[in-house]
Amino acid sequence: MRTITSDRLVLRPWRDEDAGFLLDLESRWEVVRFLGPHPATMSTREDALASIARRRALDHPVHGIWAITTADGHPVGNLLLKPIPLSAGNPAGESPDDPADVEIGWHLHPDAWGHGYATEAADAVLRDAFDRGLTRVLAVTHPDNHASQAVCRRLGMTARGRTAKYYDTVFELFEAVRPDAAVVVRRYAPADREAALLLAPRLRIGVAPWRDGEAVGRAVAGWIESSLDKAAADGQDVFVAVAGDAVVGLVTVTERRHFAGEIDAYVGELVVRADHEHRGVGTLLMAEAEEWARQRGLRHLTLDTGAANHGARAFYARRGYQEEDVRLTKRIEC
Ligand SMILES: CC(C)(COP(=O)(O)OP(=O)(O)OC[C@H]1O[C@@H](n2cnc3c(N)ncnc32)[C@H](O)[C@@H]1OP(=O)(O)O)[C@@H](O)C(=O)NCCC(=O)NCCS
Repeated sequence: MRTITSDRLVLRPWRDEDAGFLLDLESRWEVVRFLGPHPATMSTREDALASIARRRALDHPVHGIWAITTADGHPVGNLLLKPIPLSAGNPAGESPDDPADVEIGWHLHPDAWGHGYATEAADAVLRDAFDRGLTRVLAVTHPDNHASQAVCRRLGMTARGRTAKYYDTVFELFEAVRPDAAVVVRRYAPADREAALLLAPRLRIGVAPWRDGEAVGRAVAGWIESSLDKAAADGQDVFVAVAGDAVVGLVTVTERRHFAGEIDAYVGELVVRADHEHRGVGTLLMAEAEEWARQRGLRHLTLDTGAANHGARAFYARRGYQEEDVRLTKRIEC
């Protein structure tokens, strides 16, 4: 296992002489209480030595379980990067074509809390892992573990909501994507569903302020859900933009009859994750929707957007979309 260094820290393989420190670290409930689905304190030096042997046994070109020390060699905690166990009922995901999701995790001795060490150590490992070819790293945190969630945010990881996909329990999920990971557009698959639904709240942008915000939130979630449910139906399709296995955008297309009789292609929803805007993802998705229309011989691609959605309206205008109908609303006092 390699050694990784940062400004103030060294991450190196665990050694037998760390047994005293590891026992001190993991015999503390305040340190282990959020670790894994069944946290337990360590109670003997033998347990610490056996655990060190298991940590060292993870011999992999990218993954590892490291002792975090200060630059002068004082141990302060543990950092791991390894495949994350799926909950029962999820596919194994271990073949080279379908690699398991990889998680990053940390815990530090209370004497070392409050120095930003967890963020610094995890940042160094993430950079190293991305340099070595990983494109996506997850972190699962206990819903009450606000300190670790703050570390995830400081690392620039994206909150992906609660999930029961791992460890047979419910965690708050965070995701880091390699900044330069190439974006690929492909047809939606059922495994994308959870990530695709998380994009829905972005569709509230530009809805008129006089509409009920909560009802709008429910409606936009419903639109995406029903588009995903019908993705495989005739005359419909959903395409997702994927960066390093993370779903970062989607477009839904369907056939729709214009009142003059012509069948148009219609974009129901187009959405790009906020942290992936302005990188050409929306352009790629619209190009896919246009190709879908072309292949069916549909000569017009249409869509609706909120009048107040100035960003999206400018985006469409620059791609050749013209205003065709305008809906007007007046408030009636009654
Ligand atoms: C509207 C939306 C889909 C656009 O997605 P996007 O991924 O940001 O779109 P793009 O990156 O392809 O294009 C946006 C701008 O970034 C520019 N851009 C593209 N690649 C870029 C890059 N690598 N670096 C900098 N700018 C870039 C594009 O040229 C474009 O500018 P232009 O319109 O002046 O040409 C996105 O903002 C969104 O999801 N909004 C919320 C949901 C929404 O309103 N959907 C539409 C409802 S109908």
